[in-house]
Amino acid sequence: MNVVKMMMLTLMIGLLGQLSADAQQPLKLTARESQYQFPFFDTPTPVWSYNGRIPGPVIRAKQGTTLVVDFLNALKEPSSIHWHGLRIDNAMDGVPGVTQDPVAPGENFNYRLKLEDAGTFWYHPHFNSSEQLERGLKGVFIVEEKDPPPWSQDLIWLIDDWLLQKDGNIYPQFNTGRDLMHDGRWGNVPTVNGKFQPAFQVTPGERIRLRLINGANARVFAPRIAGLAANVIAVDGKPVTRVFPLDRFLLAPGNRIDLDITIPRQAAANTYVVEDSFSRKPFQLATLTVAQSEPVPTPEFTPPTEAGFIPAQLFEAVNVEKTWDLNAVRGGKFGIGWTMNQKLWPDADKADYSPGIPRKIVFKNSSSRLHPMHIHGVFFRVLARNGQQAVETFTRDTVLVGPRESVTIGFVPEHPGIWLTHCHIQSHAEAGMMTTIEVKK
Ligand code: C2O
Ligand code: CU
Repeated sequence: MNVVKMMMLTLMIGLLGQLSADAQQPLKLTARESQYQFPFFDTPTPVWSYNGRIPGPVIRAKQGTTLVVDFLNALKEPSSIHWHGLRIDNAMDGVPGVTQDPVAPGENFNYRLKLEDAGTFWYHPHFNSSEQLERGLKGVFIVEEKDPPPWSQDLIWLIDDWLLQKDGNIYPQFNTGRDLMHDGRWGNVPTVNGKFQPAFQVTPGERIRLRLINGANARVFAPRIAGLAANVIAVDGKPVTRVFPLDRFLLAPGNRIDLDITIPRQAAANTYVVEDSFSRKPFQLATLTVAQSEPVPTPEFTPPTEAGFIPAQLFEAVNVEKTWDLNAVRGGKFGIGWTMNQKLWPDADKADYSPGIPRKIVFKNSSSRLHPMHIHGVFFRVLARNGQQAVETFTRDTVLVGPRESVTIGFVPEHPGIWLTHCHIQSHAEAGMMTTIEVKK
């Protein structure tokens, strides 16, 4: 490629805010301090970003390829990148102290990602996470199917919330007693792709894949689209076992869902409001604004499902291998600690498994707070809640465990390595709620 072409390409990629994979060319992600203009303030807000963007650029790559990401840490503190949901080499999982050393300021690290699964994933730091994510470090990672269905549009919505002060700054105290005694840090400004209540243009007849990603530190969303039917076709990046209508799906921090939405042919000039209904007072996240135009033909196809993936029957004869009791204690580095079996990370009650053998784990929440529990590098299926069979028609990598609830999951340990397992409410994790599952031959 000559220099002019290179420059043009860089420019185009910059304009689109998307990074596309080219097998030979590593993608560059640089974490650094930058500025972001919210509509409410006269001056830009100091943020931390990837490549100067809020949120970070959407990474797109093809299933089956290997993507190299050259991460440069231009922050003043160590960092790392974790690829949430991807089944990859453990050494590339981005967890300082577990899979790699922290990437020091001014240093770089090359992540080699062998992309096994197609779907909706995301990336974020795994160091001082309650602060680094909150300051803006996160982005969406789309692994495209080899032959994607002919959607009219592929919309990606990274949902987030920010805790902003009146002066336009991000509230600078992280892991406060308040955050720790409750469900972490909930913000006062919801955004979709960094924008407050943005409008997305659609056309009558279009069939849209809408990918929702909860990138918030702590807030749970229950997205609802008034007047529009939506089917859930994928959860946490994986096609579902059986497609189901979006009714009330709790999108906890870390969770993703892909929706299949057809804009009705007679919907010209309509506006559909997408709102959150988890909070007592619903609020608007974004709108779908339908063009005043003739309908386009609706693409016809059946979205892929994965009926045979980690089926519940695998676990019928399996006993619970491990119960992790989730609770708070006095102590730890912030005065309030969040424990798994009474232990605070890095002193953790860990699990050790050989690959290929189905296992059952129970997350038992003895507290009255929320804990979205995430396991790195695997998918699992929810089998039971509070001891009652409750098999989900999809698999996950993150499950919200409600107050006093216990959730039984089944999974099959696969890739060797040490896989972090933790609450995705960042301040809970920072306050100790982490352990590991080690998979060893
Ligand atoms: Cu979103 Cu430990 O991960
Ligand atoms: Cu938690």
